[in-house]
Order: sequence, then structure tokens, then C-alpha cells
Amino acid sequence: MAGFIPDDKIADVRNAANIADVISQYVALKLAGKNFLGLCPFHAEKTPSFTVSEEKQIFHCFGCGQGGNVFTFVMLYHNLSFPEAVRFLAQKYGIDIPFGHMSPGQKRQLEEKERLYKINRQASDHFKGMLLESPLGRPAMEYLRKRQMTTDVIDRFWLGYAPGGWSNLIEHFSKKRVPLENVEKAGLIIPKRGGYYDRFRARIMFPIVDIHGRVVGFGGRTLDESLPKYLNSPETPIYHKSRTLYGLHVAKDHCRQTGSVFVVEGYFDLLALNCHGISNVVASLGTALTREHIRILKGYAKQVTLVFDSDEAGTKAVERVLPLFAEENVDVRIIGLPEGKDPDSYLLEAGGSQFMAEQALDAMEFLMASAIKKHGLSPQGKVRIVEALRGPLGSLADGVSVAVYVRDLAERLDIDESAILERIRSSAKRGKRERSPAKPGNGSKLEQTVIAMMLQYPEILSGFNAQEIVESLETTVLRKIGQIILDRFKADQPVAGADLIAESHDPEIRNVISFLEVKDGSWDRESCHKIVNQYQACLIKKQQRLLLSRIREAEKAKDEQLLLELLAEKQRRKNRNTHLEGDFYGQEV
Ligand code: UTP
Ligand code: MN
Repeated sequence: MAGFIPDDKIADVRNAANIADVISQYVALKLAGKNFLGLCPFHAEKTPSFTVSEEKQIFHCFGCGQGGNVFTFVMLYHNLSFPEAVRFLAQKYGIDIPFGHMSPGQKRQLEEKERLYKINRQASDHFKGMLLESPLGRPAMEYLRKRQMTTDVIDRFWLGYAPGGWSNLIEHFSKKRVPLENVEKAGLIIPKRGGYYDRFRARIMFPIVDIHGRVVGFGGRTLDESLPKYLNSPETPIYHKSRTLYGLHVAKDHCRQTGSVFVVEGYFDLLALNCHGISNVVASLGTALTREHIRILKGYAKQVTLVFDSDEAGTKAVERVLPLFAEENVDVRIIGLPEGKDPDSYLLEAGGSQFMAEQALDAMEFLMASAIKKHGLSPQGKVRIVEALRGPLGSLADGVSVAVYVRDLAERLDIDESAILERIRSSAKRGKRERSPAKPGNGSKLEQTVIAMMLQYPEILSGFNAQEIVESLETTVLRKIGQIILDRFKADQPVAGADLIAESHDPEIRNVISFLEVKDGSWDRESCHKIVNQYQACLIKKQQRLLLSRIREAEKAKDEQLLLELLAEKQRRKNRNTHLEGDFYGQEV
């Protein structure tokens, strides 16, 4: 299907990349019967309906209807094109795909990304060398020591130093004969008239590393209080702030083990936690958490704990992200540190065990507590509290938890529940914003079962008049799939869902195939015959009904000629159907 990657290479990758392996790197999967189940990464849901069949090498979400094979998953999850997805998996599984097979545009893009990764890696190594080996790095190392960073953490996070001066990095890359326009594309140097200058000067360098261990960008901190305190790489083809979490490459295994993750704001907050033995932590780097961040995190941890350095900052942020967490059905808790303390300064004073003992409130509890603290319990205070909370309460996806919080709040404020409920309703833009792509449930159950049978038990295909049945299907997408199955069957090609999906460019067809293929069904000859009979009987009835209604219309319209024709047709059918019943399975495809 992709012209520039040979089919046998695609097949190699598909064989090597076990779908359950691949998906379980992003979604927590539990074995349930023959299949794996998890929370769908493509829509918000509370109960797992995302199904992975290892046996069939396909996935399907019964909630949102997305489905496909291992390539489809990677394409959807990482937002890649098909060839990019194949290459992504090929690289993971050590399968070599020569560049010659790519389209020129594709090749250029991929090569550019590879170049940027390499340049960032070289820059990272250079900064590290400056910190650890160069006398220029001494003040930086002193600074890190002053902030109590351990050697192990400095090492694990590849910390470095960009010395002062306008052209340190430029000289480094010039010596390596790396074209400076590429270094500029990586965001490391900035053009000026007649040349370039280094973006990062006299700063501690924090490489930002993706889960595959590639350096995608940098942050840099000054050693004094000069401004700006931190400088970050600009967005590049390999660095997207809204999708990047600092420290995830180190945190991911710890998140899996503990099932939870702390989200802090700053580089040093994350490093300090690591110095105190707490490694399931990522940093949002001062930017607002996005839905993409939450979706990434939920692949690694069921519970997310946001850590804020003040109630004020926490309240604003929580109000904004609470609906996102609710929609993504991720359990979010909040730790509000004492006023003016960020995790780094808190740990220096109190230590790791005290941090772990800090009570994490659930998000609504946190908002309630901070609103009460802020407004007080005077009559006006109560009005303001309810006012402050009605937005967040209204954004909760779950009616039951709203009721629980309302009761709790009514008790704490000593007012009537109904008074609170009224306020919430009056503001309510309560609509749940679950985004559900069209479900593939179209077509009658019976039509679906017929195609499911053809997919899952193709041996039966030579045993009945499949062509006729396929043509009679009312649902277009099912009819199309049926025809694809028959064509492949006749050409002696495999019929299994994963093969059909690999062939299909049409997402509707793909989703319906994965849906039907994942549906339970254990077929044998007898059960197949039952289904075919049932379908045939329905079809006959349907045709009769249609004919009868046309006859009634003709009667109404007093169209004698048409009426006679229709009655004759009715008689013909009656004869044919009695005749058909006997040798229904006699015809070959
Ligand atoms: P803070 O201002 O809270 O700094 O910014 P911090 O992390 O406590 O830094 P230290 O302890 O003084 O070294 C939180 C995060 O916001 C981003 C950085 O990622 C920082 O870690 N930030 C902050 C910037 O990107 N630019 C800035 O100028 C300031
Ligand atoms: Mn700090």
C-alpha cells in the first residue's frame, strides 16, 4: 500500500511488532478472556472498552469505534502517516528499511528530523562535557551542589553547561562541519546579520528527552538571578511543548510500577524529588497541562497528583484542567504546598518522607478547601464560595460525584443542598463533551453477524451462495467488506481481519472490520449454517413485506396493470422460495 516501502518489509514489521506489546507501552492492558482490555487512548471513558486481540493482531474500541491493526494504532496515537508508522515500528524492532524506498518529500522530512535529533544529542554531549570536564563548568557544578543535586541525578538527567560567550556552540559545530542552518533549525543558535549567535549562554542545560531517549530540546537556567531565569528551545519539527513532559523517559517505568505520577512545574522540582528517591515525577515546565499531556500520562499511571506551590496558583490551574481530567477519566489529586514553597524548597527543608506524607486532596476537595480558606464562612463568604465552585462542579462529567460534592459542600457551609444545586444548574453548561467518532454499529445485528462469520470462519465461504448474500446486504459498508472478503477468498489470499485492515485505506471499513473481528464468536459449520438460514429467512420476509406494501400502494392508486404484475411476482417468489429451501448450500461461490 505505501509505494515506497516494499510489502515484504511491511509484513516483516507487522510480524515482529506484536500488537499487545506495542499497545501496552501506552495503555495499561488487562487480560480479559481471550483479549486484553484497557481505557481507550482515543476518547474519554470510565469503563474499559478498548479491546486488543493478540490472536488476531487487531484492536477495537467499543466506546468510540476506532479500530485497526498495529500500524493504525501507531498512526492514531502518534499522529503519523502510514509509512512513518511502519518506520517507527521497524526502528523499534530492529528491522532495516532502506531510505531508497521513500518518496522524496517523506525522505526529506524524516532525514531532517533525524538530523535534528543528532544535533541535539551532540549539543547535549557538548554541554555535559563542559559541566563535567571543563574548568569553564566549575561555577555551574558549584551551583548544582549548592542546590544539593546528587551526582547520580546530574548524570541520570544528562545535565550540562553552556558557558558564557556568543559562539561556543557555533565553534563546536563548525569544527564538526555541521551546517549551521541545521543547528539553527534545532533552535540552538539564532541568526543575526552576517551569521549566528548561541541561544544558550552561561546557563545550566537541561536536555528534554523523549520516551525513546532522543533529545528533543533544551531548557537552560542562569546561575544568578539575571533574567530570563529560564530559557527554552523554540518549537521545532521534533519539539512540541504541548506534547512534551520533562523527565518522562526516566519516570515512565516508575510510574508503571507505582501506578501514579507527580506533576510539578519546574526542572529543579523534578530533580529534587529524584534526589529524594521519588522518581515517578514529570515536569510541565511552567506551561499549562494539555489534554495531550493527560493522555500521555494516563498510558503510564492511573493516578495523577498535581503539586502546586500555592493555593492561588493551584486553584487557577485546577479549575482549568479539572474538566480535562474528568473527561479523560483520570483520577487527579492535588497537593498544595505551604505558601511560597515549591517542591524543591520544601524538600530541602522537610525531606522526602514528609513530602510523601503530604495529604493529596481530590481535585474538588482541594477547590472547596481553598475557596473556604479564601472567602471565609460569613454569609457573603458562603455566597462567594458557591459562586467559585459552581463552574468546577458543573464541569464534572459524573452526576454521582456532583451529588456527593454538593452534599459535602452543603454540610460544610451549613446551607441547603437545593440552594447549591440551583446555582449549579443556572450556570450549567453541563453538557458532557465526550467526543465519540461514529460507531460502527450500523447495519442490523444479523447483517453484522453474517460478515463476522465470513471474517472469522472463512472455511465456510465455499459452502453457500455467499455472493448472493453479500449483494443483498443493506448496509453499504458491510456490503463492501463482504465483497473484499469474497474477492480475496477467490484469489486464495488470507481473509483474516488484520490482512483486510492492512489493505484498507478507508477508516470506516477498518473500524467495522476490527469491530466484527474482535466480537466474540466461536464458529463451526453448524452455527454458520444456522446464521445463513436465519439471514435467508429474514431476507425473504423482507422482500415479501416490500412486495406487499407495493401491492397496497398499487391498490390505492387503482393501477390495475401494476397490481397484476406485482401479484404475479408474489406467486413466482412463493414458488421459488419453497424450491430454494432444499438446496441452499448446494451452490458454490
Ligand atoms: P519557577 O519560576 O517556579 O522557577 O518556574 P523554579 O522552577 O522554582 O526555578 P528555580 O527553583 O528558581 O531554579 C517554574 C518553571 O517554569 C519555567 C521553567 O520550566 C521553570 O522550571 N520557566 C520559568 C520558564 O520557562 N521561564 C522562566 O523565565 C521562568
Ligand atoms: Mn524553585
